[in-house]
Amino acid sequence: MRRPILAANWKMNKTCGEASAFASALLPRIAGEDGVEVVIAPPFTALAAVAEAIAGSAVALAAQNVSAEPSGAFTGEISAAMLADLGCRWAIVGHSERRRLYGEDDALVARKARALRSQGLGAIVCVGETLDQREAGRTLAVLNEQLEGSLQELSGEDVPHLVVAYEPVWAIGTGRTADPETAQEVHAHIREKLASRFGADSGSIRIQYGGSVTPENVYALMAQPDVDGALVGGASLDPESFGRIVCFGSEDPSQGS
Ligand code: PGA
Repeated sequence: MRRPILAANWKMNKTCGEASAFASALLPRIAGEDGVEVVIAPPFTALAAVAEAIAGSAVALAAQNVSAEPSGAFTGEISAAMLADLGCRWAIVGHSERRRLYGEDDALVARKARALRSQGLGAIVCVGETLDQREAGRTLAVLNEQLEGSLQELSGEDVPHLVVAYEPVWAIGTGRTADPETAQEVHAHIREKLASRFGADSGSIRIQYGGSVTPENVYALMAQPDVDGALVGGASLDPESFGRIVCFGSEDPSQGS
């Protein structure tokens, strides 16, 4: 049984004050939702503020990125040890915005995932095809390549600390979501790839869907057998909306809506 994981990716949004206010507004809304893991990924500058605001709750702290290097002369970078020091449990790596806007390739994503694991943090590794790639019928080939490349530095021991986020690039921030059947098809494929890479234990790896997730569409997505959570951008900026996503995400689809 995989515990659903619902993560808020704030991207470059919220000051420390706004981040604290969000956490204070969110916590009462999700009280008692113990069936799901809730993760907040603020910008680096608000990690400490969110850590303080969620202290004592079950909400986990995540970073949106990490350096592949352990320390040293890398101006502007943040190491996995620094994130661990702030209480991060997870970091997102390989987000399509990092890949597209900052030229991050699979080999770098793999090294970042390794850096996280070396400090005991979990890695949320993002993969996803562009619209052109989908229309050219290359979705699964693109995902195979991204998965092979991005996971190349992980081993079976890392399986409990790995989450894969399937985020079709054409669905991110566009209001256009993959329909639940399409998401399921891709998630099932990713699960097969993970099984051939990591063996039987990989059945415990959670695969999140990301791309224009809202309180309105999260339930149908998560009702799919291989959709184990959501990575939420725009709709995670408002505590009311993210709170509703967490509550819908924690409902047991087998019990009906
Ligand atoms: P979105 O972003 O929910 O705004 O589409 C998702 C993401 O980029 O993780």
